[in-house]
Amino acid sequence: MRHLLITVLCILSFSIPTIEAQNLLSENTVIPKPFEVVNRDGFFSLNSSAQIKFEDVRLRPLAHYLQDLLSPATGFDLSLRDINYVKDNPVIALAYSDEMTEEGYQIDIRKTETRIVASTNKGIFYGIQTLRHLLHESIELNDIQDQEYNIACGVIKDQPDYSYRGAMLDVARHFFKKEDVMRYVDLLALYKINTLHLHLTDDQGWRIEIKSWPNLTAHGGSTAVGGGDGGFYTQEDYRDIIQYAEKRFITIIPEIDMPGHTNSALSSYAVLNCDHKTTELYTKMRVGFSTLCTTSDSTYIFIDDVIRELAEMTPGPYIHIGGDESDATPIDEYITFIDKAQTIVNNHGKKVLGWDEIAHSKLYPNTIVQFWRKEKNALMGIEKGAKVLMSPANNAYLDMKYDANTKIGLRWAGYTDIDEAYNWSLEDFADGIDKEDIIGIEAPLWAETIVTIEDLEFLAFPRIIGIAEIGWTPTRLRQWDDYKLRLAVQGKRLTNLGVNFYHSPLVDW
Ligand code: ACM
Repeated sequence: MRHLLITVLCILSFSIPTIEAQNLLSENTVIPKPFEVVNRDGFFSLNSSAQIKFEDVRLRPLAHYLQDLLSPATGFDLSLRDINYVKDNPVIALAYSDEMTEEGYQIDIRKTETRIVASTNKGIFYGIQTLRHLLHESIELNDIQDQEYNIACGVIKDQPDYSYRGAMLDVARHFFKKEDVMRYVDLLALYKINTLHLHLTDDQGWRIEIKSWPNLTAHGGSTAVGGGDGGFYTQEDYRDIIQYAEKRFITIIPEIDMPGHTNSALSSYAVLNCDHKTTELYTKMRVGFSTLCTTSDSTYIFIDDVIRELAEMTPGPYIHIGGDESDATPIDEYITFIDKAQTIVNNHGKKVLGWDEIAHSKLYPNTIVQFWRKEKNALMGIEKGAKVLMSPANNAYLDMKYDANTKIGLRWAGYTDIDEAYNWSLEDFADGIDKEDIIGIEAPLWAETIVTIEDLEFLAFPRIIGIAEIGWTPTRLRQWDDYKLRLAVQGKRLTNLGVNFYHSPLVDW
């Protein structure tokens, strides 16, 4: 009897599957939360004979990208195949379908095939990011893991609610070298963010080489908040950033902030000042004291040169002209200035983005008003026919402290813990700013108090992940209680990626 019991136990222990039980696909850990998920029985398992199939030669670069993502932790070759693949072995297939929206994709997970389809490479890229989130978070590690990589069977159909999902990085108050920007781009892409706005100029520093006005960077780029060394991007650096971001389907939007926030330019060229005297370099944090001489022709020659060089290097559709906090510019001059700046940008083939104050001026067709502070400005912009980009400081500013204990960051718009950064929606934010008025969301990270990539990551993560979900997932599908569980798993992924993120006590990491 005892012998029989031991035999039965042995059989039982041998029959316990070595593969971990799978959750349903609908109980996934994906952020942003996908639009629609259907469950099926069983699971797809990556093993050493798994292959990556591309059904169109234009998908080969994405097949390579997927191979590079999955090979290190699995240790599998994941050989790339065209239609000549081994039918009995597991396959991840990439294919086009013209049934999806521009950024949409579908993943169909069966026992031997996981199939990602989209109508564009961007959609396929987003499908790959979702696949990443469906795999155990150790997939992000660079050495071989003792881990089964399985995905529950089912179908995900996904597409974004808003077409503009962005982050902004201030590289003017403190300079971030191109490798830091690229790392941020990589992390943003993981959450399907499609735009990075670079705040390239401010009172404390001019960070983009303009060949026709070299002193902007030679002198105006030489310092930063607190008096450090500053720095700038050569045009080659800037192009490298753009190319790097393009490969991750992120559009770079450059900002030249004007007519205020211009002390770095005013200290570099006397001709930009109404009194023809250069100002001192500035390394403190006050705002609202500087202005270009808006009544001088030289100023518009300068802006035309800057925008021409920038437009030539920038494939994206927008140039941001700033326009915020120009308290030293008389309002009538400000209105004329913003009008002329729009003309210059349009003449160089680009559309204008500007902070909400620009709504005081005439607005050109396709000019976008970026709401950061005053609803009344955004409403004025809408009345003038503009669409709005939503960046309300209380919820979307990544440089606000999480709470009273946060060592870096500012607090003028209040503390913003991760629930506050997540628990709002674009279309319900303000009366009169309706869904059809809004192009999307952007989370700015101002750099007065951040110096290193670790500082940057600490303020951006995890709040930027919630911002990504607000832009992608319809409001009715989002709930904080569900989000924070998915975020806890993302925390492990961020740890594996070496991200210095804030472990808010609101989440059970
Ligand atoms: C801003 O925060 N000054 C746009």
